[in-house]
Amino acid sequence: MHLPTSLFLLGLTAAAVRGQVTRTSEKDEAAIHDPDTECQPYVYPPVEKLKSSFPAIWEYASKILPNDSAAQAKYASFKDSIPNIAPKGTLSGDITGVKYDSNADPDCWWTGSLCVTPKLAGLKPDIADVPEPKTIGYGFDDGPHCGHNVFYDYLSSKNQTATMFYIGSNVLSLPLEAQRAVADGHEICVHTWSHNAMTATSDEGAFAELWYSIQAVKLVTGYTPTCWRPPFGDVDDRIRYIAQQLNLETIIWKFDSNDWAQADGTQSAAQVQQNYDSFMDKAKQGQFDQRGAIILTHELNNFTMQTAINNYPKLAAVFDHIVPVAVAQNKTQPYVEADYQFPSFAEYVSGTRQTNGTILTSASVSASKSSSQTGSASAPSSSSDPSVINKQNAQSGAVTNSVTLTPLASLVLAFGFFWL
Ligand SMILES: *[C@@H]1O[C@H](CO)[C@@H](O)[C@H](O)[C@H]1NC(C)=O
Ligand SMILES: *[C@@H]1O[C@H](CO)[C@@H](O)[C@H](O)[C@H]1NC(C)=O
Ligand SMILES: *[C@@H]1O[C@H](CO)[C@@H](O)[C@H](O)[C@H]1NC(C)=O
Ligand SMILES: *[C@@H]1O[C@H](CO)[C@@H](O)[C@H](O)[C@H]1NC(C)=O
Ligand SMILES: *[C@@H]1O[C@H](CO)[C@@H](O)[C@H](O)[C@H]1NC(C)=O
Repeated sequence: MHLPTSLFLLGLTAAAVRGQVTRTSEKDEAAIHDPDTECQPYVYPPVEKLKSSFPAIWEYASKILPNDSAAQAKYASFKDSIPNIAPKGTLSGDITGVKYDSNADPDCWWTGSLCVTPKLAGLKPDIADVPEPKTIGYGFDDGPHCGHNVFYDYLSSKNQTATMFYIGSNVLSLPLEAQRAVADGHEICVHTWSHNAMTATSDEGAFAELWYSIQAVKLVTGYTPTCWRPPFGDVDDRIRYIAQQLNLETIIWKFDSNDWAQADGTQSAAQVQQNYDSFMDKAKQGQFDQRGAIILTHELNNFTMQTAINNYPKLAAVFDHIVPVAVAQNKTQPYVEADYQFPSFAEYVSGTRQTNGTILTSASVSASKSSSQTGSASAPSSSSDPSVINKQNAQSGAVTNSVTLTPLASLVLAFGFFWL
């Protein structure tokens, strides 16, 4: 399986029925609870007008757009120093025939060795767990999902925030859902433009996949993300270098709930629950008494979100704290813009869940157009009637089966089926 059909169709459908439904406000969108209405593709005029400044939705962003001088300038500023590491395998993650010595692991290729400490000097290590004991760095990949209101309502009811790894194409298709993450105090990181295997991309393709995802979040929310998660975990020192030039920290995980695999029948619902249970058993056995955990879970479909809800109270009972990844790192400024602050870990666990970001309105998204296109990191306009968010948020945790080192040979055929 390559792109999950549901996500792929979502993009296609949005394009096909463009113009049929217009939606204008995050608050109105967040109040819809009928899943069919929620997931009816819609047009949000401020984003619709700028779609031509982005790559095609859900297509591999192989190139910087010809007239995008800000992106061209940024790329030109470092392209000559990109590590000379050849692309590996296919975009869909097929690494059949790729010759790589995963013992020597010269490129710190996660897919081959689960390496998270770069070989290349000057690259920051990936974040694969959290320093705080008995703590979960709580996050979800692949959103925003059109039908996430029940899930986000649940998190809010628990005063819980999380790290949302958003796909750039989904952000442009579902801008009001992406705005809800800011409204609710979640942390937004990017998860590439088209969810392809990043070590298979060209240098320029890797840049464009990240650049346009950052620009999509900036356009829609006013904030510029500073973190990303590689699809399938597929990262090496070439890709880390490009991400670091774009001011993105690389966030991986050590436990995989495999919740994504229920949709294609690779894992049953019961197996996914076993994965969560085994993660919690490890916690009970003291595995996270020194350092906390990051488990891979998804905002992918009803099953993954409902499974997250079902397991939340159990995780909260087993772990002392469940926090966004940034909070576990005391990263109080999650975005480039300094006007959005997260609590420190100490503040969060003592009950201060306050964030003070600003959500853009339709008017201010239009006004932020020029800063988005130049890639500058200016704060969202405060002159267009933005509503200030002042929310209390809370805590708790989750996850599963430990990733074991897999010899490259056995990954070769399996990798194409992974959806991480
Ligand atoms: C870039 O070019 C595309 C098509 O070539 C056009 O639709 C778009 O408006 C241009 N964007 C800018 C920012 O000029
Ligand atoms: C969430 O925070 C609010 C405001 O501080 C508080 O009244 C409420 O009890 C909290 N809810 C939970 C589930 O902790
Ligand atoms: C999943 O679908 C069921 C049945 O429609 C619904 O009751 C439930 O609220 C949904 N869960 C989430 C997290 O959206
Ligand atoms: C976060 O800050 C606290 C002090 O408030 C400190 O004890 C802890 O080690 C810090 N954690 C990280 C990851 O920096
Ligand atoms: C948000 O909070 C931080 C820290 O308290 C503060 O420096 C900043 O000015 C605040 N921003 C807004 C828009 O209120």
